[in-house]
Amino acid sequence: MQSRANVRLAVVGLGSIGTDVVNAVRSGHVTGIDLVAAAEPTTCPTRDELLEADIPVYEHVQDFPWHQLDLVLEATSQSVLREIAPQVVREGVDLVILSAGATLDIEFLPALLELADQTGSKIWFPSGAIGALDVVRAASVGDIESITLTTTKHPSALTNAPHIENSNIDLDSISSRQEVFAGGPAAAVRGFPQNVNVAALLSLAAGNPDQVHVRVIADPNAPVNVHEIVVRGSFGTMAIRLENEPSSTNPKTSALAAQSVVALLRQLGSAQRFG
Ligand SMILES: NC(=O)c1ccc[n+]([C@@H]2O[C@H](COP(=O)([O-])OP(=O)(O)OC[C@H]3O[C@@H](n4cnc5c(N)ncnc54)[C@H](O)[C@@H]3O)[C@@H](O)[C@H]2O)c1
Repeated sequence: MQSRANVRLAVVGLGSIGTDVVNAVRSGHVTGIDLVAAAEPTTCPTRDELLEADIPVYEHVQDFPWHQLDLVLEATSQSVLREIAPQVVREGVDLVILSAGATLDIEFLPALLELADQTGSKIWFPSGAIGALDVVRAASVGDIESITLTTTKHPSALTNAPHIENSNIDLDSISSRQEVFAGGPAAAVRGFPQNVNVAALLSLAAGNPDQVHVRVIADPNAPVNVHEIVVRGSFGTMAIRLENEPSSTNPKTSALAAQSVVALLRQLGSAQRFG
């Protein structure tokens, strides 16, 4: 009898999430996963540590040793995801996507899934900064009336967001809780590409972005990132509230996002599955 082979992983992007995941895998917190390569165009301590451990770090994903890989984790940005995803899938390698906002581009995901059907690649969406996507997926089997996501962050976590800049919102002048955006998930993700990937995750789980309504609140008194999700449908109502500590290295990212990838890797490296 053949035992399960370890999953051979490459991490693309050694920023906040990529580094947390690399550290978890290398410190033995994830069994059944071997880190065999990474890609990162800048110099950073994680890159140096991997090189010292003889784990190659490439500048470009194109140079990956594809035949040695089973799984690629994308932990970069929406634009880099768009660039690298077709190649990963064309190579028949599975892909874990963090920059989920890109999937609201109506052409990107359908083309990628069609390619994956041809090559056999699987595309994974970790639950990221939220949870309860299992409930949303189950709810979508019946009728969903509405999904509302209210994201509250400290104004400093919203700096440089295109919506803030285009609307001339002065984040420094916000002295109490203030709504800075209300609208659909595609506009939310365009306006806050680094903040509301979760709007895309809810849209994917529901199978219909038109059911999702997003509000972004800037609150100078918010000590943590808060996501409140209310789903109404034929199943009943779900209301959850996550108070997420920001990552210690990137205030725009919740610490839970990297933990959700580690949890997914633990599942992929073992026989146990949650649905
Ligand atoms: N799905 C979710 O719930 C969720 C939650 C938080 C963050 N995110 C998203 O995850 C992504 C990563 O977040 P982060 O906080 O780690 O970002 P980060 O900015 O800390 O790190 C991104 C890294 O990617 C590197 N990079 C840039 N271009 C690259 C390329 N061509 N090849 C390889 N690496 C490249 C950068 O140099 C940087 O080190 C972002 O898109 C973020 O919005 C998703």
